[in-house]
Amino acid sequence: MTMQKDRSGAPRRCLAIVLAAGEGKRMRSTLPKVLHRIAGRSMLAHVLDSVTRAGADSIAVVVGPGRDDVAAEARGNAPEARVFVQSERLGTAHAVLAARQAIAEGFDDILVLFADTPLARPETFSHLRERLRAGAGVVALGFEPADPTGYGRLLTDGAGALLAIREHKDAGPDELKVGICNAGLMALDGARALGWLEQIGDDNAQKEFYLPDAVAIARAGGAACALVMAPAEEVLGVNDRAQLAVAEAEIQRRLRLAAMLNGATLVAPETVFFSFDTVLGADVVVEPHVVFGPGVTVGDGCVIHSFSHLEGATLAKSVAIGPYARLRPGAKLAEKARIGNFVEIKQADIGEGAKVNHLTYVGDASIGPRANIGAGVITCNYDGFLKYRTKIGADAFIGSNSALVAPVEVGDRAFVGSGSVVTDNVEADALAVARGRQAVIPGWATAFRKKMAALKAAK
Ligand code: UD1
Ligand code: CA
Repeated sequence: MTMQKDRSGAPRRCLAIVLAAGEGKRMRSTLPKVLHRIAGRSMLAHVLDSVTRAGADSIAVVVGPGRDDVAAEARGNAPEARVFVQSERLGTAHAVLAARQAIAEGFDDILVLFADTPLARPETFSHLRERLRAGAGVVALGFEPADPTGYGRLLTDGAGALLAIREHKDAGPDELKVGICNAGLMALDGARALGWLEQIGDDNAQKEFYLPDAVAIARAGGAACALVMAPAEEVLGVNDRAQLAVAEAEIQRRLRLAAMLNGATLVAPETVFFSFDTVLGADVVVEPHVVFGPGVTVGDGCVIHSFSHLEGATLAKSVAIGPYARLRPGAKLAEKARIGNFVEIKQADIGEGAKVNHLTYVGDASIGPRANIGAGVITCNYDGFLKYRTKIGADAFIGSNSALVAPVEVGDRAFVGSGSVVTDNVEADALAVARGRQAVIPGWATAFRKKMAALKAAK
């Protein structure tokens, strides 16, 4: 976090206003646009995280009328954020003024952000704020898209000073030739912002109150306006699901790069998908085609073999999982545990060095250190109404194809014969066999063949 200071050295107080009142019609979704997820969390949550990391002292989120879901997501991700409702959708300046009460409290810096522009980095917000500190009244964020159609154009004088922003629909032919576009995000001097915002009118092609008009108004009032450039991929706006996928690709690119620079080997990085909060230790190897859902922490030296899916799981050091392992929320694997192919683990502690190697479901369970769970073992944790726990002791051995009907406990060092259906506790050091006893009748097959062959011949 960067603490911005003014020229006398006092910390500058910053209000971040996040606009999230758009309708997002082009998403063609019942879910509000800003609640669509990239890398495991909503676009709104990404933006709130960036402004928090950029050192905002106060956050205002502007939502559309009746959007309790968006308000709840804002509060869930930034508990101190204040939510304001924009009752009518009359443009970006009108939306900012929905947070008038917060602006009027008096901040040094005001940042305006769009919740549908989720990839802007905290450093970029800091750059905007630095220009305010240097004396600018309004700082716009510019970028050069491959195709500028639809964006506002940043109009500068010969010396590069920012004069005005012209929306595409209001621009003349020469203005449309300008390649530097408005990313939308903006910083305004807190002491003067309200005065400028109140002067913005709606006499334009869309009959909307345009926030970008703050530039020309500030200049007319004698304030200098500045321009900060950002890479196009950082200010990508998400309006439809195709752009949502582009944003996802960009954030995955960043997460993969960060994982590798932090000391993880990704054999085929483009096939590994992370969540915003995935934590990988040093010398982790991730083989191709692995998906990390939210809430995964992987300790040093772990190997994640191909085609594994992890969510809400914690792996201590030197654990190996997969190929084809599924770790669901609450899976906790102690050091050197081994989870093999087609194994599902949910709400379960797997002890140090324990092995669950093939075709197994372990749910609502704890498995002791060095225990060996054979192929095809199932913890039967659910009776259709409630869930129950299975406890397996240290060094226990559960034979293949056994069903452990919870609640049930198998003591330390105990054995369970394969094919058992275990309904009662097994004490430490015991053997439990719970299956039909084998009967062997010598010569039975010979007699059977002889009888059947005779019957067939008589037909
Ligand atoms: C805006 C900018 C344009 C810039 C572009 C970058 C304006 C007038 N234009 O255009 O210069 O190039 O972004 O993507 O600002 N919103 C509200 N309430 C409203 C209107 C908008 O909350 O009444 C929110 C939307 O949810 C969205 C953001 O403001 O998050 C931008 O609105 P949008 O209508 O998408 O603006 P653009 O036309 O894309
Ligand atoms: Ca937009």
